[in-house]
Amino acid sequence: MKLLSVISTRPELIKMAPIIKETLKRKIDHVFITTGQHYDYQLFQGFVHTLGLPAPNEDLEVGSGSQAFQTSISLLKLEEVIKRHNPDAVMAEGDTNSVLSAALAAQKLLIPFVHIEAGLRSFDRTMPEEVNRVLSDHCSELLAAPSAASKKNLLLERIPEEKIAITGNPIVDVFFEHIKKADSSEVVQNIKFKDFCLLTLHRKENVDDVEKLKIMISILGKIKYNIVFPIHPRTKTIAIQNNLLAKLTALKNVQIIEPQQYFDFLKLEKESKCILTDSGGITEEALMLGKPCLVLRNNTERPEVLSNICHLTGINEQRILSSIEKVMTEKPPKYENQIGSPGVSKRTLDFISAAYDAGNLKIKPSNFFEKPYY
Ligand code: UD1
Ligand code: UDP
Repeated sequence: MKLLSVISTRPELIKMAPIIKETLKRKIDHVFITTGQHYDYQLFQGFVHTLGLPAPNEDLEVGSGSQAFQTSISLLKLEEVIKRHNPDAVMAEGDTNSVLSAALAAQKLLIPFVHIEAGLRSFDRTMPEEVNRVLSDHCSELLAAPSAASKKNLLLERIPEEKIAITGNPIVDVFFEHIKKADSSEVVQNIKFKDFCLLTLHRKENVDDVEKLKIMISILGKIKYNIVFPIHPRTKTIAIQNNLLAKLTALKNVQIIEPQQYFDFLKLEKESKCILTDSGGITEEALMLGKPCLVLRNNTERPEVLSNICHLTGINEQRILSSIEKVMTEKPPKYENQIGSPGVSKRTLDFISAAYDAGNLKIKPSNFFEKPYY
């Protein structure tokens, strides 16, 4: 069997790392392509290196641009690459523009697409990621769903059950592989506060809207706890363009740092008193660490993370200030880890191999003489 993976951003590298390692362990012929959506060393090559991944076979160097630019140029370039490598299947994880391009390119070439972390839904079509999720799932021959809830979302969209397997949440394997080693990270030596909360903010709907970004900066100034903020390049660029970076750096309770490598970031998560984030993966890691978390969004495609320790606040001053006060002053309640157990990479590869061995890793035409497809 020959698999071609398209992995183009930080969270894809993190969640795909154990799956790639399992693929190589099984001696499956594997090609690693990146569209180049993330290209800074701290967001891409640094992770390839620290996660112990092989270098990509090809970098399509698509880079940054509008939604349509990224998706269409990646689609064009991926068509040529997939055709040339002619794999038995293309696989990708998550909901970025590169993932949608990979799904569409594979589907149009009639090469099966395997979607990992399929079936997540925020039901918010204003998010580019939601559109990417829905369309990628509908271009997939195999859908590796993290949970029963995500499988149900797929069934409700009439995706045939035989295409779906619940393989578990891909963050679990990589998290457990690295969390113990994170203790050796020296990152806290560069943090000026003894106690701190950890903040990340990069979601398009939060930072492209400059008014919202200004509100968030004003809220940060009103929080009475210290905040460490590894700033995403999207957020930094917009802050610089709108003269907001100086306002941010002037806040005495906020320390801005560069995006961190995985070990160092896990160490910061572990050492923090609470986490404020609009990221998907970080809310799951917070829950696995039992760390109180404020989700800076109005909805989530991961409703299982919302719990007695993880609160949906959006960018809303009153909700953020009252939630942070609650989690910082009250005794932490008992919580249940809803994220899942390790073994996800093995289950994912078993799922793909079983389909391949049974001759089902194919895009088949509907045959009305036998059975209608749907
Ligand atoms: C993308 C994904 C998002 C994911 C996030 C992970 C989409 C629609 N969004 O958002 O779902 O959560 O990655 O971090 O696919 N930039 C750099 N250097 C880089 C990459 C980006 O400076 O290496 C800057 C550029 O100004 C660029 C901006 O960040 O325009 C946005 O990058 P982009 O990849 O388009 O989206 P993300 O916000 O990173
Ligand atoms: N992360 C990291 N360094 C950072 C910020 C995040 O290693 O400076 C990791 C984090 O631990 C999580 C993943 O990146 O596993 C989340 O990526 P991101 O927030 O960019 O994307 P999302 O999960 O929202 O798609």
